[in-house]
Amino acid sequence: MPARRNKTADDITAEVLQRFGETPEPRLRQIMLGLIKHLHAFVREVELTEAEWFQAIETLTEAGRMCSDKRQEFILFSDTLGVSMVVDLISHRKPDGATESTVFGPFHRLGAPELPAGGNIAPLDRTGTPTLVSGRVLDLDGKPIKGAVLDVWQAHSIGLYDSQDAILDGLHMRGKFHTDAEGRYLVRTVRPVNYPIPSDGPVGRMLRATGRHPWRPAHIHFVVSADGYEPVTTHIFDRTDEYLGSDAVFAVKDSLICDFVRHDSPTAEAERLGIEPPFLTTDFDFHLKPASRSDTAVLDAQERLAALGAAS
Ligand code: BEZ
Ligand code: FE
Repeated sequence: MPARRNKTADDITAEVLQRFGETPEPRLRQIMLGLIKHLHAFVREVELTEAEWFQAIETLTEAGRMCSDKRQEFILFSDTLGVSMVVDLISHRKPDGATESTVFGPFHRLGAPELPAGGNIAPLDRTGTPTLVSGRVLDLDGKPIKGAVLDVWQAHSIGLYDSQDAILDGLHMRGKFHTDAEGRYLVRTVRPVNYPIPSDGPVGRMLRATGRHPWRPAHIHFVVSADGYEPVTTHIFDRTDEYLGSDAVFAVKDSLICDFVRHDSPTAEAERLGIEPPFLTTDFDFHLKPASRSDTAVLDAQERLAALGAAS
């Protein structure tokens, strides 16, 4: 008997599922069947109208048109919808004691300069408060990891990344640091500030229409990697920031919140580096978990994301 050409909404969903059910590759089949099931259920649950569906298509088209080597509107959608954080959680389940990961974001750039311990990632920033970030990279037993690499990036004290600032040319507020034999690192920068994510496109319209703000609490980004360990993509956050409880991209985790301590008189280290008071210090140790087979995929995913975002 020929298939019924019907159709109720259930008939349509069933027929679409049946066709995708023949996808040869098992993982792709699982993903497509899950997507169809949830997408159809969503459309039916909210009784999506033609006008609303068309508006969604226009929004996605506009997002695509906005993407360039300096702007990735789809990453912003993923981040502001909380999807990036759920994917991150599933992809990087950490044992107790390992440093927690958080969103990569769209502003990493490949090719940050290699800097010595104490190197300044903010030499052109004249308005920020000088800040020293120090700590160690350790394994889960607390043993120092020598030669770990910390790829660090941050917005400048006006709240923009270099790729967003029309005046700046080239890479700024970025550096790669290596740990010493005791696993120590030392980064010189300026105090991170809170800043709004780009909101002049469809993501900004979505935030305004839904009564949400675009602000991220002050933070510094890190990717910490070492041979034999799973790399961690994370931030450290400033405990005093007013947006810790309402980060536009849902990326704050308690274990990543730090105290930035103000100094009004010199310390030996600050003097050695030529930093005059007032300045800030903060201390954060990274704990890496031993590598598993999927870890090359972690860095591969980061390189792909970096290539989608701001160009080097
Ligand atoms: C960031 O921290 O750089 C960022 C993360 C997600 C969306 C926008 C910016
Ligand atoms: Fe950021």
